[in-house]
Amino acid sequence: MVEVSTSILNVKKGEESATFFELEAAKTDYFHIDVMDGKFVEKDTYKKMFEYASYIKRISNLPLDVHLMVQDIDETIEEFLSLEPNIITFHLEACKDKKDVMKKIKHIKQNNCKVGIAIKPNTKIEEIYEFLPYIHMCLVMTVEPGKGGQTFLNEMVNKIDQLNKYIQEKNLETDIEVDGGINLKTAPEVKKAGANILVAGTAILMANRFEEIIKELKK
Ligand code: DX5
Ligand code: ZN
Repeated sequence: MVEVSTSILNVKKGEESATFFELEAAKTDYFHIDVMDGKFVEKDTYKKMFEYASYIKRISNLPLDVHLMVQDIDETIEEFLSLEPNIITFHLEACKDKKDVMKKIKHIKQNNCKVGIAIKPNTKIEEIYEFLPYIHMCLVMTVEPGKGGQTFLNEMVNKIDQLNKYIQEKNLETDIEVDGGINLKTAPEVKKAGANILVAGTAILMANRFEEIIKELKK
């Protein structure tokens, strides 16, 4: 089954209430919350994303899929745990070492939350292998993290395929999420390669009818 996680990064202030309402009616499976700190990536979306996520938490039963593009992961985890998200994903590149990665995984799980690890386009897929048995999801970035509306990097299809094969081979249950430049053109190839959660911001928010595009992406 393929699920859709709608990135609310570029939802304009003042339009959030109507947009979230409509996205829920259109059956998005998750709300994808892009937390940026101005350090790990240039932009700082921390306040806006915390505000939006808190609001969604109050008005919706749909799960929050929190993507942390931050350097100070531990501090941010604490804040976002207060919103009881379904899953918190942090970047492998922002961790000190392997011990640090395991510590973060354990901490999030101890707080009754699922864990994901994200990798940037230049990070080798092999680097995630040893953590796969302990996490729920691997987020393969299909653009450089930092902003919405970028072009999908075609080279990432092989990476997804390789990860999917490894997961099957090892009999793991890990979800594969893809994020960046996902639209009706790029969705078929990432699904074919094995991705089962598609993040989309621009493609959904710019569409005339959310319901139709979400349905198409899931097909
Ligand atoms: C990029 C973010 C993505 C992005 C998705 O750093 O992690 O979630 O906003 O947006 P689109 O679908 O526009 O690429
Ligand atoms: Zn994201």
